[in-house]
Amino acid sequence: MQNLILIGPMGAGKSTIGRLLAKELRLPFKDSDKEIEQRTGANIPWIFDVEGEQGFREREHAVLVELCEQDGVVLATGGGAVLRQDNRDALYAGGRVVYLHTSVEQQIDRTSRDRNRPLLRTGDPGRVLRELMAIRDPLYREIADIIIETDERPPRMVVQEILERLQALPPR
Ligand code: S3P
Repeated sequence: MQNLILIGPMGAGKSTIGRLLAKELRLPFKDSDKEIEQRTGANIPWIFDVEGEQGFREREHAVLVELCEQDGVVLATGGGAVLRQDNRDALYAGGRVVYLHTSVEQQIDRTSRDRNRPLLRTGDPGRVLRELMAIRDPLYREIADIIIETDERPPRMVVQEILERLQALPPR
């Protein structure tokens, strides 16, 4: 499958950059979190409250597998999409994988006004983000074809770099 798949932590800009990339490439844009919400008929905090993180991860897995089987879409994933080995396999098989790397400071900045992330409903979101990053950064790197630094850079510049580096990628 040849999709363009964006991975990375909360606040990396996956949705913003994904939407811009899809426009540039004239491809449909899909967001796995939005897809989960549509199918469930409920938002992500509700799913976490009622079904727990485990319930959310099951729904996430089903949606990721299905979206990765499509062809020619730009896909933004949730920050925890890489946690399961079977998800990582599906993402890697689904297309080119771009890891949007971001410092925890930027993540805090970009997520502080947002109430839609249950994992950050805590007194110390910075600590949570640091702990998640320690576990997940190697998992993002494991499947990334391209790693892009997004800190302090406007989305359009990140998009340009992704497009250039995609052109230069050797076949797998
Ligand atoms: C999560 C990230 C969220 C969403 C859910 C869990 C995570 O997506 O999937 O709240 O485990 O990091 P974003 O990365 O789009 O915020």
